[in-house]
Amino acid sequence: MKLLVLNGPNLNLLGMREPEIYGHETYAALCEKIRAHAAACGVEVEIFQSNHEGALVDRIQEACGVFDAIVINPAAYTHTSIAIPDALKAVRIPAVEVHLSDPARREAFRRVSYVRSACVATIAGHGFDGYTEAMDLLCRMLKS
Ligand code: DQA
Repeated sequence: MKLLVLNGPNLNLLGMREPEIYGHETYAALCEKIRAHAAACGVEVEIFQSNHEGALVDRIQEACGVFDAIVINPAAYTHTSIAIPDALKAVRIPAVEVHLSDPARREAFRRVSYVRSACVATIAGHGFDGYTEAMDLLCRMLKS
C-alpha cells in the first residue's frame, strides 16, 4: 500500500505555533512518527507540506494511479477551499481528514469543513495520534 500524507499551511511551524493548542512537538517529530508507523505497518509513505492551496491540489492530482490512500490535514484550507475537495473527488482516492485540534470546539469560522465531504472519515482533536489512527483506518479499509 502506498500512502500520501498531505499537510497544509503553517503545520511546518509546529512546535513554535500556538503550543497551547498544537503542542510543543515539531513538524519533524510528526513526520518521524508517521514514518515509524508506516514502517511498522508495512506501508510506503510520502509526506508533503505546503503553504499553498494550488500545490496541495497538484499533489492530489499527481497521486492518481500512484497512491492508494491519502491522509490530509488541510489546516486553514479546511474552512475555505473548494479546490481541495474537488481534487480529492476527482482522483477518487480514499482520504481521511485529520486535525490536531478539534475545530468544532474552537472559533465559529472553524466549524465548516469543505474537505469533509470528500473524505471517508474525519479524526480531530487527537494530536499526532490522529495521523496514525487515520493510517490504521485506511489500512483496514483497503484490506477488507
Ligand atoms: C488544524 C485546524 C485548523 O482550523 C487550523 O487552521 C490549522 C490546523 C488542526 O490540525 O487542528 O491550521 O487543521
